[in-house]
Amino acid sequence: MVNHFITSIRYLKKMVPKVIFVLGGPGAGKGTQCQNIVKEYGFVHLSAGDLLREERRNPNSEYGELIENYIREGLIVPVDITCSLLERAMHQSSKDSFLIDGFPRNQDNFDGWKRRMSEKVDLLFVLFFDCPLEICTERCLRRGAEGSGRADDNVESLKKRFNTYQQETKPVIDYYSSLNLVKRIDATNNAIQVFEDIKNLFRAYNIQSQNH
Ligand code: C5P
Ligand code: MG
Repeated sequence: MVNHFITSIRYLKKMVPKVIFVLGGPGAGKGTQCQNIVKEYGFVHLSAGDLLREERRNPNSEYGELIENYIREGLIVPVDITCSLLERAMHQSSKDSFLIDGFPRNQDNFDGWKRRMSEKVDLLFVLFFDCPLEICTERCLRRGAEGSGRADDNVESLKKRFNTYQQETKPVIDYYSSLNLVKRIDATNNAIQVFEDIKNLFRAYNIQSQNH
């Protein structure tokens, strides 16, 4: 009976999806490193920005135009839209470990997640890519020039995105910091070094590589 109970608890625990939030300024390297983490550790990468861009491209979406405008202005889309996209992607996945990139980006994102999702998942930590504005700008402009195809990789949109980051995202990071949940990565280094730092961090958390 007791054994059965313990087994059930383990089973339930296993079913609770694990989440790492990935935050940092635009161009800090979140997307690049998330791809590395996916390959090495088998997490599922859910980029809030990518999900919104995909939704915008869907001709049947009632939110296409709203999303388009918010993204161009570097503003944060109302959380019910973003949270629904994240929730749907998590449900559709057969895996149970998620890197949620670019979320929660402001108080509204934070509150909506808390209301709808926080009790259904296990937040491991917040991976914070710390990178000064000048380096971020340089990277985004290079990405734009190399044909990222993003309507917001230009000087005008970037100014707005940075502003939003400073005003709205930084306080969310500070809040998680006060809960001791933020793992800071020096994102000014080159991508190889940054990934070494991430691997060390994951090792400390006993997150196993799937490549051996
Ligand atoms: O993370 P990424 O740079 O791809 O995000 C691009 C844009 O998508 C943001 O500037 C913002 O307009 C929108 N976004 C959002 N809410 C999020 C993440 C992204 O509105 N949580
Ligand atoms: Mg991104």
